[in-house]
Amino acid sequence: MICSTAKAVRISERVYWVGAIDWNIRDFHGYTTKRGSTYNAYLIKGTKNILVDTVKAPFKDEMLGRIADVIEPGRIDYIISNHAEMDHSGCLPEIIDLVKPEKVFASSMGVRALKDHFGLEGITAVKSGESLSLEDVRIDFLETRMLHWPDSMFTWLPDDRVLFSQDAFGMHLASSERFSDELPAELLEHEAAVYYANILLPYSQQVQKLLDSDAVRALVPEVVVPDHGPVWRQDFPVILENYRKWSRQRPTRKAVVLYDTMWHSTELMAGAVMEGLKAGGARPLMISMGTAHRSDVAAEILEAGALIVGSPTLNNHLLPSMADVLTYLKGLKPQNLMGGVFGSYGWSGESVAQVHDFLVQMKVDMPDEPLKVKYVPEQADLKACFDLGDRVARRLGEVSADGD
Ligand code: FEO
Repeated sequence: MICSTAKAVRISERVYWVGAIDWNIRDFHGYTTKRGSTYNAYLIKGTKNILVDTVKAPFKDEMLGRIADVIEPGRIDYIISNHAEMDHSGCLPEIIDLVKPEKVFASSMGVRALKDHFGLEGITAVKSGESLSLEDVRIDFLETRMLHWPDSMFTWLPDDRVLFSQDAFGMHLASSERFSDELPAELLEHEAAVYYANILLPYSQQVQKLLDSDAVRALVPEVVVPDHGPVWRQDFPVILENYRKWSRQRPTRKAVVLYDTMWHSTELMAGAVMEGLKAGGARPLMISMGTAHRSDVAAEILEAGALIVGSPTLNNHLLPSMADVLTYLKGLKPQNLMGGVFGSYGWSGESVAQVHDFLVQMKVDMPDEPLKVKYVPEQADLKACFDLGDRVARRLGEVSADGD
């Protein structure tokens, strides 16, 4: 049933937010979303009424309610799918059936994804540099391949200077406020960083290329409307500068000591590594996988210069919690990290070598031998852990971007 009380929010002369707020989502394919999310869809009202992206399938009626606040949904003429992931296309087949648009546009990869996923036929492919010239407005398309799916693209409305950026510049944040300048800056920076670390980090080179491209530099948006979280107005330069910083991943003196423990021996080692890091001038942060979530770790790694990892051995393997987080981090491809490995064991002690392999595959710089302690660390073992932290900190001091 269409939500008759749902309201649209006017964004510019022609553009309305007609999305949905998901207050309760706490897991987004493995990324913990503590503050919920929004699925933003937008309506461009004009001689042709255009819906830009849709919402996750269960939120279709909320979106239709917001559209109905502006126009009768059957009056939608065109749909643009900037991104085929299901949080933005989940209800697209039903919407097409309902409103019977003249045309649906997507990038060529989007056409393929929508066909493969939903069996949708007849989608019109558009390319970078192509435009839709209507009686009253022009709409430009810019493919942003692998940001963060092959199909992803931006849509630019030059008449209103509105940039539809799909996942880029977004965040998982449910709120009744629609504009970033209505929310605390620290909250926005935190949630945008968590989002970048968990969604866009592997594609940082493409982010840099895109932001430095002539096509993007030529745009001077007044409003940037992502597919999640608030709409950016005058504070867009803040998130843009953060994207430049996060995508460069220049090492800082921040050093993450990531571990889990069975009987506190590996935890004792972690504490000694942390003390050594501190003594050497680093800014250490200890994270136990007994209490943290993998996506929080990803967010902490984003601006770190070092990752030192500890795991005891359980049944000839690293602890499952450490396998989980290292598998996740490996997929996110963080760059420019230096590292180290430590762990206690009772009999065979395979975990340390397994963690070392993970970090080598992640191209973490690992000049030190892994530290392996049988049962409970003695003072000499803790001193070795301290020295490891101290050495990493000093090397970090030579290369870090945050000076003293
Ligand atoms: Fe918000 Fe890549 O979907």
